[in-house]
Amino acid sequence: MSRRILVTSALPYANGALHIGHMLEYIQTDVWVRYQRLMGNECQWVWADDAHGTPIMLKAQAEGIEPEELIARVKSEHERDIAGFLLSPDNFHTTHSTENRELANLIYERNRDNGNIVRRTIKQLYDREREMFLPDRFVKGICPNCGAADQYGDNCENCSATYDATDLKDPISQVSGTTPELRDSEQLFFALGNFSDMLREWTDSGSLQPEVANKLKEWLEGGLKDWDISRNAPYFGFEIPDAPGKYFYVWLDAPIAYIASHKNLAARTGEDWEASWKPGSDVELYHFIGKDIINFHGLFWPAMLEGAGFRKPTGVFCHGFLTVDNLKMSKSRGTSITIETWLKHLQPEYLRYYFASKLSGSVVDLNMNFDDFITRVNADLVGKVVNIASRCAGFISKRFDGRLATAYPEDMIEDYRHFTSAQSIIMQYYEQREYGKAMREIMLLAEHANTYINDAEPWVKIKDPEQAEAVQQICTIGLNYFRIIATYLSPVLPELASKTEEFLNTTLTLESLEQPLCDHAINRFKPMMTRVEASQIEKVMDETKANADAKKASGSAAGNQDASLEPLKPEIEIDDFDKVDLRVAVITDAQPVEGADKLVQLTLDIGIETRTVFAGIKAAYDPADLIGRRTVMVANLKPRKMRFGLSSGMVLAAGPGGSDLFILTPDDGATAGMRVK
Ligand code: MSP
Ligand code: ZN
Repeated sequence: MSRRILVTSALPYANGALHIGHMLEYIQTDVWVRYQRLMGNECQWVWADDAHGTPIMLKAQAEGIEPEELIARVKSEHERDIAGFLLSPDNFHTTHSTENRELANLIYERNRDNGNIVRRTIKQLYDREREMFLPDRFVKGICPNCGAADQYGDNCENCSATYDATDLKDPISQVSGTTPELRDSEQLFFALGNFSDMLREWTDSGSLQPEVANKLKEWLEGGLKDWDISRNAPYFGFEIPDAPGKYFYVWLDAPIAYIASHKNLAARTGEDWEASWKPGSDVELYHFIGKDIINFHGLFWPAMLEGAGFRKPTGVFCHGFLTVDNLKMSKSRGTSITIETWLKHLQPEYLRYYFASKLSGSVVDLNMNFDDFITRVNADLVGKVVNIASRCAGFISKRFDGRLATAYPEDMIEDYRHFTSAQSIIMQYYEQREYGKAMREIMLLAEHANTYINDAEPWVKIKDPEQAEAVQQICTIGLNYFRIIATYLSPVLPELASKTEEFLNTTLTLESLEQPLCDHAINRFKPMMTRVEASQIEKVMDETKANADAKKASGSAAGNQDASLEPLKPEIEIDDFDKVDLRVAVITDAQPVEGADKLVQLTLDIGIETRTVFAGIKAAYDPADLIGRRTVMVANLKPRKMRFGLSSGMVLAAGPGGSDLFILTPDDGATAGMRVK
């Protein structure tokens, strides 16, 4: 009996381009979906753009267009990228749709009627100039925990503390640059605590990856807080039916669009979509997500579904983040590569294969290194896989009129079975999302096929007319191996698969592999894949950097306020400045800090003494690269006790934060301890 499966990927925000980080998730999903279909299962992938929220509203305002226009444009760009990367969703919808509005209302109303919605008045930061309440990410100020400046309203990049935006000291609105005021505002909350028992059970159900279950346990143990599901106007989203002027928070209606997209698809297929979303449905439901959105899919989403009488997911498949050269992707380093840029210079299947070869079922981060990428693609795909076909094809078409041998040589049947019996382990690996392991098994087969052809030397035998039949047999065997390998790779390399179907004049299915192809006419071989060149990668990097620079330049030329540039602070006297003792420091050691993703522990030599400083620069620097470099520190800053130890001083850095951060590096002449004036 074939399985019925519904799959989703996280919905990309409709205010920006898709990049290779998104693609990690979308390729992971696509491979799984194609594998299910190859197995003969009924597998649908429903997906959408995430079109609501403050950033989208503000971006439309900045462009002087309506949000509807912005999200329509971005949706068509996303669809272009989806097609360009050979992704095969059954539907790509949007959260800003009639289906989603109706379903969001329904799920909200059922939860309300079941006592899961509470109203409460809270204090929020309000920007008087822009006449809007400020979301956490649109306020910056001084961390209430460690005193670091320039921290967002939700958590501190320096000490990792989480807090409310109203706790920030000296808050500044990132929308207008003014100081926001505190205002009372009634909000609607989802009473997550009502679901603790259900969530505990779901966490222990074994349907989650251990890392995800552990994370959920941590949250459950910390106690579940009510979740604010409303936002005040102006907001781009759905107005809450019984709360005029209030809108559903983007994260309320976003996952509901999984259902809405399915409903929208059903209008075309005529299927009973509602049955799939009822408790007890035998349709399996899986969500592919990144590790940054576990709370939404592991806590809020199952609770909302349960509270509205819907079924819960069968599983949540969480993956880690893509890093480039072990660093977070960064625009200025040219590693935040958009799909548009990639497709101008490189084939999508190169990346599909590279990611597949590195993906596993765990949530660990996955690193992209371009030397490794070039080697993998050229050695495996071009050198091992396509090579099998190109070495055998010519003889068949030139010498045997394009026909495979009439019968498969008896003594090679066992070897053929070696290839077909690998199917079960390879398919099992796909099922478990252990694509890396699946790729290794397939490459072993490809090596085996190449060894066979090398040893058989058809290019030598062809010179001897008496061995003609043997050559036809060798090439028939080689091409049969190629057919099996291309079928096993088809979830990852759909284009290679369709080129193979055209070339071998057959449809690639698992069942048909039972019988080798013999006494069969094939078509002329056309090159299937070319080698990747380092110069192509360089073009991608150059274009990425140029785009980032152009964006910066146009931002300031148009007089737009660069979100990363803060307004000037009030004037100070020279005496005020004199109080700050800035010194040249030599970084004698730099170590990652266990339990703090963002921190680096620096040992700084300032001539007079040695200091330990914790700096929130991990996303921008590999600690090892810092050792031996000079920088500038505030040497007389009062030491601060942090969770990881005492931090005595602060190093100076410029940039908006995260991976876009640059420590100051004085010239060669500067030596440890020199005063900076
Ligand atoms: N709109 C929300 C998801 C709503 S789902 C109901 C969102 N959008 S996103 O565009 O920021 O991210 C979409 C997906 O891409 C997320 O699962 C996220 O984890 C993933 N990734 C974004 N950047 C990534 C990397 N650098 N690496 C791996 N995955 C990445 O979150
Ligand atoms: Zn802090």
